[in-house]
Amino acid sequence: MKNYLIAANWKQNGNLKSLSHLTRNIIALSSKRKIRHKIILFPPAIYLFNIDSLIKNKKNILLGVQNISPYNDGAFTGEVSSKMAKDSGCNYVIIGHSERRHIFGESDLEIQSKVSASNDMKMNIILCVGETASERRKKMTKKVITKQLRTALFPLRNRLRKNLQKLVIAYEPVWAIGTGKNATTEQISDIHNYIAKSLSNIFGRNSLKIKILYGGSVNTANAKSILELDSVDGALVGGASLQAKKFIEICSSI
Ligand code: PGA
Repeated sequence: MKNYLIAANWKQNGNLKSLSHLTRNIIALSSKRKIRHKIILFPPAIYLFNIDSLIKNKKNILLGVQNISPYNDGAFTGEVSSKMAKDSGCNYVIIGHSERRHIFGESDLEIQSKVSASNDMKMNIILCVGETASERRKKMTKKVITKQLRTALFPLRNRLRKNLQKLVIAYEPVWAIGTGKNATTEQISDIHNYIAKSLSNIFGRNSLKIKILYGGSVNTANAKSILELDSVDGALVGGASLQAKKFIEICSSI
């Protein structure tokens, strides 16, 4: 049985009360349903400490931060460093989510700096890649993904190689995020296999240690068929992770 990783990206939703309630329900349901897969919760950064205190001692439920500063300590108003995130109980970080790229204008080079800073702190990195609808229409999907992967990873390859099991790629087609329009299993297999090949071009045979997740409108109806694909090692779930019952149903579909 594959060791799946299911991530819950809560984005900028909820408040202390509702997210604590959601966390308690996820803990209770995951133990009731005997979920063995690794679950990673990504609350808004301001609540990391609170959520961490609720999941303490839960071996399969871990904590992550949705975004990270590309810098270490210093005069960077509003930023949270990898060291601070670790201090708040985080072992995972999402880097290059499409909302960061497209709403906040994050470049591939900034993403590379974030990967570098998080790797220095030995964080587990979930690097998101994916094409927009118009890029897919123009048949540019693979080109876009190659650029995203190579700019973020290639210059750091020698350092990353030491901890490849801590690197995770999430394929998240921008047109599938929050739209209810998930990619088809054929599209997912095609791109996941392509990502695996690109990673092997960068890192060689050891790249098999890198998990590849799918994200984009994963829900209780499509989770099983997506997670059953050979090339899929887990999911990054947004909207459906805000309801404990739905999220745990996704986790228990495999
Ligand atoms: P969604 O979000 O599941 O709501 O489409 C996924 C994501 O943004 O990671």
